[in-house]
Formats: sequence, C-alpha cells, structure tokens
Amino acid sequence: MSTLAIEGMQWGDEGKGKLTDYFASRAEVVVRSQGGNNAGHSIVRDGKRYALRLLPSGIFNPDVVNVLADGMVINPFALVEEIEGLKAQGVTKFNLLISNRASMLLPYHVAIDHAREAMLGNSKIGTTGRGIGPCYEDKAARLGLRMGDLLDEKQLESRLEGALNIKNRELIAYGAEPFKKEDILKQLHEVMPSLIPFITDTSAYLRDCLKQNKKVLFEGAQGAMLCLTHGTYPYVTSSSPLATAIPVNTGLPLTVVNEVLGVMKAYTTRVGEGPFPTELFDEIGNEIREKGHEYGTVTKRPRRVGWLDLAVLRYVKEISGITHVGLMLLDVLGGLDQIKVCTGYKIDGKLIDYMPCDVPSYSKVEPVYVTLPGWKEDISNVLNYDDLPQNAKRYVEEIEKALGVSVAMVSVGPDHKQTIIREELFK
Ligand code: GDP
Ligand code: IMO
Ligand code: MG
Repeated sequence: MSTLAIEGMQWGDEGKGKLTDYFASRAEVVVRSQGGNNAGHSIVRDGKRYALRLLPSGIFNPDVVNVLADGMVINPFALVEEIEGLKAQGVTKFNLLISNRASMLLPYHVAIDHAREAMLGNSKIGTTGRGIGPCYEDKAARLGLRMGDLLDEKQLESRLEGALNIKNRELIAYGAEPFKKEDILKQLHEVMPSLIPFITDTSAYLRDCLKQNKKVLFEGAQGAMLCLTHGTYPYVTSSSPLATAIPVNTGLPLTVVNEVLGVMKAYTTRVGEGPFPTELFDEIGNEIREKGHEYGTVTKRPRRVGWLDLAVLRYVKEISGITHVGLMLLDVLGGLDQIKVCTGYKIDGKLIDYMPCDVPSYSKVEPVYVTLPGWKEDISNVLNYDDLPQNAKRYVEEIEKALGVSVAMVSVGPDHKQTIIREELFK
C-alpha cells in the first residue's frame, strides 16, 4: 500500500492543509486521525479560500474518500456547520466516512474548557476553547460518548445521562450552568440525519483499503511540539499529532506509514501560551506576522512569531521518523536583509543536546543563532527551484544540511500552484 503521512513539525499552522490538498488529487483516501475543530486548515484553490476544521483536506476532490478516523474528537454540530458552510461555497459532493469509535464532543466539553481556562488565570493554556481537552479527558475516563452512539437511541441516552451526572457536578462547582439531557438530545436529533449516513467502522474500511493496495494520505493536525506527551507540556493539545500515533488512531498496523512528510514554516509561529525560545518581540516579528497573515484560521488570534528553530526540528525529525520535509511560506521572509536561524540551545552557558522537558528548563534556554543573508526578490511566482535567488536556495540547503533530510518541496504562496517540487513523493 502506498501511503504518505503529513505531520506538522512546529506548533501547528505549518501549512498542512495546503500540502494535503496538494497531494489529495493523487490519493484515493484522505484520513484525519486525531484532534478536532481546534485545527484550522486553510486551502486556497483557484483564488478561493476555504477553512477546514474537522473535514479532511481531500474534500475538494470528489473521487477521494475522506475519513474522520477513530482518534478524532468530533463536535457533531460543528461538523454539520462546516459541511453547510462548504456547500454555500459551492462544494457539492461529500464523500465522507466518520468512525463509529471517534469521540463525540458535546457542548459541556466546550463549557468546561472555558471555565477551566478562566479559573487558571495567568496559568491558562490558551486553548482554542473548542472543548478538545475535556473531551479527550472523558475518553480516558471512559465517560465519553462516541459517534457510533448516534446509531442507537437507548445507548445514546444512557451514555449521556451517565456523563452528565458527573460533568454537571463539575460545572456547578465551577459556578457554570449545568446541561439538560433533553436539550442536548433535542439538538443532536436535529443534526443526526446529516451525519448518520456517514458513520461506520472506518478502521475495518481502512484495513480493506490496505488489502486493496489503495493510496492513502494521512493528514496531521496540530504540530509535534503540541504533542500531549512529547511537546511543551502543559502547553500542548490533548492528543498526539505525531505520525507515529497514526496506527492506533486509525486501527491500522504499525507498518502502515511508508513516508512521513514533515511540514515546517520557514520561520516559527505558535498560538496560545507556552515556551517559544526563538520568539520575536520586535518590528521584524510584526513584519513577518503581517506579511504571513499570521492570525488563527479558527480563532483569529494573532500568532506569536519567531525565527526558525533547528533544535525543535531536529528533535521532531527524530521522534517522528520524518523522511522528507515540505518548507512552507518561504516567500514571507523575502525583503529581510538578514535572517537568523537557531542552531541549538544553551543552558547555563553550555550547549545542550537534548530537548528540555519542562517549563523551568525552557525558561533557561538561550538560543544560539547563525545569521544568513536575505533576498529582496518576490519569489511568490517562482516555479523552479533553480530560479530562486541564490540566498533563498542557500536558506533551503542550510536547513537540509542541518536536519539531514531532503527538502522535497518549497512553498512560495498559499495557492496550490505556488509549490516548487524538488523530489516527487506519493507518485
Ligand atoms: P495548517 O493548520 O498547518 O493547515 O496551516 P494553516 O492553514 O492554519 O496556516 C497556514 C497559512 O499559511 C494559511 O493561511 C495558508 O493559506 C498559508 N500558506 C500556506 N503555504 C503558504 C506559503 O507558502 N506562502 C504563504 N504566503 N502562505 C502560505
Ligand atoms: P492546526 O491543525 C495551532 C494549540 C492552542 C493551544 C494548545 C491547546 O491548525 O495546526 P486545544 O484547544 O487543542 O486544547 O489548545 O494547542 N492548538 C493549535 N495551534 N494550530 C492548531 O491546529 C492547533 N490546535 C491546537 O492554540 O496553545
Ligand atoms: Mg491551522
């Protein structure tokens, strides 16, 4: 089976949506396997911009089957709203499968997310406020509802009753409004007809695809540094965005992932709180934010901006088994006289060869920088690698050398066409 996994190598928003859409025309199946509508994947096709949150970015290819797999947390109301929004934008065919094992994210998860963040005050995580953490918590606590419960009224009602018995106590303790089972059931009944036809055993379906040697593309959400276990804990999301989590989140064997395309921006961004060693607080940071339109796809929050961090990228390459890199938004760096790149971290004046594992250690990190020369040309219409300015090529090649992995593609603009191919993947 020919597969390709796309993984964000930083703190999310690296351009996974664009690359997934790019490869979707060669795929038979596109799969999202973790996260929920905390993700915001922007895709520009023929000058038109689309924002996807739950739907896989293969949705614009009518012949591609788009799977929302087992490890996702799915807000049924947000999903129907997203489908309706795309219909209004002219998308007519929804070739979708929704896992019966995927967790169902319900309004009380959103309320708990907001209440917790408010209570944490200065220590808040800066979540997207979509209820993602509380939904995954319920999954682990075995209190969660799953999308398959929508297929069985009795099970749906009894699972919801059990969950609300516990969740409402928590909400009341927070001084928030409790939820009524009847209200949630009523709301669910309104959206169920739109979702039930798509709900199935997607892991069985995907295993069949495997037997039939189909081409399957796995679209990551979030970024490796937001991994619940390996990221900048506690300032992380509540699932693992690593490609190594794909097997368990889809019901496929370990060997399912042939190639992992790590997606990285030519600089770094993050939204929400938490460590960010190369963060810029100056005019250059503002310039990059404006030129790169670095505002959240979902929440519209301004993204924090910083220089490229090779310490992060080397670490992520190792923990995820990245085989190729897609370098995104290189056009945004055009016009700068000089570009800094962090090559490693020092703590107490000594170079370290490990990734800090807690916030106190991150607070001691001093990034070590090299300065590379910039380029003045607008590269957003360059189609061939050789036509890039010398210093832009040097930037790409320095990254390649430092990571020891090939930069297979370079993106110079949001549109599908603004993509320079150096090595063909997923042929
Ligand atoms: P994702 O969450 O990883 O899918 O990334 P987002 O879509 O949230 O954020 C990436 C943003 O960069 C989107 O607005 C894209 O349209 C845009 N984008 C992607 N690639 C490029 C590029 O090469 N150049 C520029 N200027 N914008 C890009
Ligand atoms: P895509 O797929 C960027 C961040 C939030 C917050 C932390 C926890 O578009 O790259 P959560 O709501 O998940 O509990 O928030 O994770 N975060 C993202 N940042 N891109 C994303 O997704 C993100 N999904 C979550 O900002 O810091
Ligand atoms: Mg995004």
